Amino acid sequence: MQAPTETDQPRTGTCRVCAGQVVQFLDLGRQPLSDHFIEPAEIGTEFTYDLLVGQCRSCTMVQLLEEVPRERMFADAYPYRSSGSAVMREHFERTARDLLDGPLRGPDPFVVEVGCNDGVMLGTISAAGVRHLGFEPSGQVARLAAERGITVRNAFFEAATAAETRAQHGPADVVYAANTMCHIPYVESILKGVDALLAPDGVFVFEDPYLGDIVDKTSFDQIYDEHFFLFSAGSVRAMARHFGFDLVDVRRLPVHGGEVRYTLARAGVREPSAAVRDLLAEEDARGLSDLATLRRFAANVTRVRDDLTALLRRLRAEGKRVVAYGATAKSATVTNFCGVGPDLVEFVCDSTPAKQHRLTPGRHIPVRPPEAFAAPYPDYALLFAWNHAEEIMRNEQAFRQAGGAWILYVPDVRVV
Ligand code: SAM
Ligand code: TMP
Ligand code: ZN
Repeated sequence: MQAPTETDQPRTGTCRVCAGQVVQFLDLGRQPLSDHFIEPAEIGTEFTYDLLVGQCRSCTMVQLLEEVPRERMFADAYPYRSSGSAVMREHFERTARDLLDGPLRGPDPFVVEVGCNDGVMLGTISAAGVRHLGFEPSGQVARLAAERGITVRNAFFEAATAAETRAQHGPADVVYAANTMCHIPYVESILKGVDALLAPDGVFVFEDPYLGDIVDKTSFDQIYDEHFFLFSAGSVRAMARHFGFDLVDVRRLPVHGGEVRYTLARAGVREPSAAVRDLLAEEDARGLSDLATLRRFAANVTRVRDDLTALLRRLRAEGKRVVAYGATAKSATVTNFCGVGPDLVEFVCDSTPAKQHRLTPGRHIPVRPPEAFAAPYPDYALLFAWNHAEEIMRNEQAFRQAGGAWILYVPDVRVV
């Protein structure tokens, strides 16, 4: 499944935002579904696709050239649990409080969340007695949300389901989505749905990994089947305008390796904040949407891959034990692009029951519960969940006290 970063014949495609021409700048090879943790019997049957990344020459949106059908990714067994990290639970509680103290302050407010997963954010909204509806197509996580008393619809949010919601519940003051908008190639349907659903002065708030952080940190593992778009303020503003909205606020967030929370309102209803102007100016000054910047990023990706595989091969030759920590969707890109399998990494530990006792997509590294980590500790732990480094290293302090060391590859390959 390995392939070179820069192909001889870069592909072109059609922009999912503006129908402009998308030009490839990175080839991450043939990849499996990033969240499809398999049983041994499934080896040889996995779905694969070409993970190619390009940029639209018209609106600058960075996007994948090949689209994986949504039903393959967000099926009943989708294993990601938003509540799996204490830091993320706190983040979403703060987010809910910000919404309750801000755009949901009026009488009988109504909020719709796109991709509510196990209800990590709507839990606080529901406890405050505020009307809400979570859209969640993945069955198991939708049931977890319902079990905690959240009103959830087990369906994809799109133009038709949004219009039904408007007819049934009336206008929404806020439509919110975390780590979900970037998963959705059919943006026209989404923004039509938001337009149908939002109150005249309502806001659409979404947060996703930020292209600026991805380039700065060479975090190419933020690119996988589910992450169809890599947003910047410039490309989100272009997308908003294309569908009759304005980008009226932005806020950088430290979670998941660096994100931006974007606020959209109907065109002309709200003045864009100073933060929008500042981030757009910063992106211009650093040339974030220049193809040359993206090509430099692609060259850095090759360097990180070569450094990581060289380190893992050396440790193996020295007879050291290496295990990985966090069976993230991101790590599918790392293992499959870099060629890291059970020969280099013994197993991955992960706290998610739905991933445990299965094999990682494509490279088939066994996934074990966190208790396996200390039984006995390995010499090195490759931190796939680097975005949760603080939380994991705090919980696993005994590993270093026992002489172990962490391997990181964001922004550079290093041992700490
Ligand atoms: N919001 C949570 C968070 O930030 O942790 C969940 C993020 S998870 C990476 C993306 C979620 O979006 C998945 O649970 C998936 O099933 C859901 N999803 C994908 N497409 C969707 C759509 N069109 N409407 C609603 N949810 C969708
Ligand atoms: P994410 O980076 O997409 O949020 O995925 C993080 C993965 O790491 C998820 O499968 C849960 C796992 N994890 C642990 O195993 N232990 C932890 O302490 C944390 C925070 C995450
Ligand atoms: Zn475009």
